[in-house]
Amino acid sequence: MKKRSNIITVAIDSPAAAGAGTQAKLISKEYNLLYLDTGKLYRMAALLKIKNKNFNYLYLKKNMAKLKLSSLDNKGLISDEVANTASVIAQDIRIRKIIKNFQLSCAYNPPTKYSGSVLDGRDITSVLMKDAMFKFYITANVKERAKRRFIEYKKLKKNITFKEVLKSLKNRDKLDKNRKYSPLKKTKDSILINTTKLSKKSCFYKIKAIMDKKIYN
Ligand code: C5P
Repeated sequence: MKKRSNIITVAIDSPAAAGAGTQAKLISKEYNLLYLDTGKLYRMAALLKIKNKNFNYLYLKKNMAKLKLSSLDNKGLISDEVANTASVIAQDIRIRKIIKNFQLSCAYNPPTKYSGSVLDGRDITSVLMKDAMFKFYITANVKERAKRRFIEYKKLKKNITFKEVLKSLKNRDKLDKNRKYSPLKKTKDSILINTTKLSKKSCFYKIKAIMDKKIYN
């Protein structure tokens, strides 16, 4: 695969709803980086599976080959059913392999208008971008995460209770952390950011201070 040299690469892992997406977007704006929410790829695969009885590896491969970044701005991807199905199919190594290439090309060969890339997910620091210039593990207490996700769902008028959101986050944490392939874990070389008691801004300033030190020194 073609790799651009001298680019800024940022890898972020986190359990669901810990604020990684928010921070990744802020990082991408600040440093002019391409942002890829890799969870959306697994959600896209989950949606294809939910909608098509004939879903199989080849079908997914064909759809991934023609996937555009803009296709990921799909409201259909934001639901508890899609998230839970994503977590189940993400255990399958063959599905992970099909999704891998798209992620690698965003990570290492972003369009030249960008100065680099920032990807968030579950296996970005540990598998996908082991050599990233910056590695962060963003987390928060599960009740706080459920509260945030519940508020997001309410804004979108989703019919779901706080208890249900909490239950599915706990279930996904368990699946994502204990699976055989690419489990979610904090790598030794990742910087831990706990967002439970931090505002979005103070969390970003923490990250920005770390990044500026390395980029501008
Ligand atoms: O990040 P998000 O909650 O949208 O991810 C949905 C699911 O996709 C996760 O619970 C996880 O099982 C899977 N995923 C993964 N590896 C990634 C990103 C997401 O296994 N890099």
